[in-house]
Amino acid sequence: MYYLIQPSNINDAVVTGPGDKSISHRAIMLGSIAEGQTDVSGFLAGDDCLATMEAFRRMGVGIDHPAPTELVIHGVGLHGLQAPVEDIDLGNSGTAMRLLAGMLAGQAFAVTLTGDESLRGRPMQRIITPLAQMGAAIESRDSKAPLTIRGNQQLAAIDYRLPVASAQVKSAILLAGLYADGKTTVSEPAVTRDHTERMLTAMGADIEVAAGQISLQGQQRLRGCKIQVPADLSSAAFVILAGLLAKRADLLLRNVGVNPTRTGVIDILQAMGAKISLENSQLFGEEPVADIRVRSSSLQGIVVDPALVSLAIDEFPVLFVAAAAAKGTTVFSGLGELRVKESDRIAAMANGLRALGIEVEESADGAVVHGGHFSAGEVQSFGDHRIAMSLAIAAVVAAGPVTVQDVATVETSFPGFDHCLRSFGVDIECRREDAE
Ligand code: S3P
Repeated sequence: MYYLIQPSNINDAVVTGPGDKSISHRAIMLGSIAEGQTDVSGFLAGDDCLATMEAFRRMGVGIDHPAPTELVIHGVGLHGLQAPVEDIDLGNSGTAMRLLAGMLAGQAFAVTLTGDESLRGRPMQRIITPLAQMGAAIESRDSKAPLTIRGNQQLAAIDYRLPVASAQVKSAILLAGLYADGKTTVSEPAVTRDHTERMLTAMGADIEVAAGQISLQGQQRLRGCKIQVPADLSSAAFVILAGLLAKRADLLLRNVGVNPTRTGVIDILQAMGAKISLENSQLFGEEPVADIRVRSSSLQGIVVDPALVSLAIDEFPVLFVAAAAAKGTTVFSGLGELRVKESDRIAAMANGLRALGIEVEESADGAVVHGGHFSAGEVQSFGDHRIAMSLAIAAVVAAGPVTVQDVATVETSFPGFDHCLRSFGVDIECRREDAE
């Protein structure tokens, strides 16, 4: 599947984007091991979260899906999961694999987790080390998936300092910690998204959060609750950039999650001169939400503060597009983790931007992007949803038509991305090779 995008003017619009992926995964996972019912609205029915839903159904959890964005999860309690009959395939989802591994560390059964080629290439030692210290036995293929996790019902609590800032690893340890005896503590080298901590609080868990350190007692019961999932700021970022780069636009994005552990993208864009404002701030349960207003802006190159990296970790592909469209030079550093995401995102964006006529100097952990104008062309996504969508946004303001190859994985996080862009005037078609 590929996108064909023509340079487009965009209309003023109100946009409701897809639900938050991180929160949707956690709603299924925590709702499944809570007691009683969890009602989820605003759920992201993308491939990644559907893989998590299927995994829990296979472990005996009743999950109704009465509407695309609604779930009713019939929690089985901390010790109610059952051994699945077959291996569990988590598709493209690193979050599903790493968080689930943490939860499976405390079960009475063994499970094998696998995924697509991208997921089978991603580093898993970062969860194997702490979970093995807690007492789980995990077999891997050279520290990568497939992972066979033999749970241990006598997990030991640990006090663990994360070597890399990773919400996935932090969450895996906290989920295992729920099954351990005693108090588990995780310290993080930089603040990462805290949706697990907030949802555990919403479900009545006793969890302490203090400067860079999170602790919880094991063997706590969770209470099912209502979860209203905000729109995903990581998906909204593509629409925000389309609005900023347009000649004349005023877009309002409704009910977007603005948890402060996620808003680095707004800070970075504002530092570049973006006209972005938050309106109608409210809470969805424990999660801050706001409407985001975006007006066309003239962006300037900056040196991006590496302290913001963990707060904008998934938005660097689209920030590279902002840098490429800005006046002057933008310097990115501290982005080493981007090389082990769904693709090597530094290399993938350097490749895509160069194909559209932008000068990029790549370094081991970052890049220098020289602002310019996008030419027409054909670009590769390397099967990575965020690369595909970032390059599609560049295409909206390119000098001629742009083809973005290999876009099927956009379904993992932003189903209907092309439809959403068309709703405010972008000329984008999604085509299948075999349809020609
Ligand atoms: C996620 C955490 C981030 C992010 C991913 C989702 C999560 O990964 O890149 O898309 O839901 O916890 P890391 O924590 O490994 O950086």
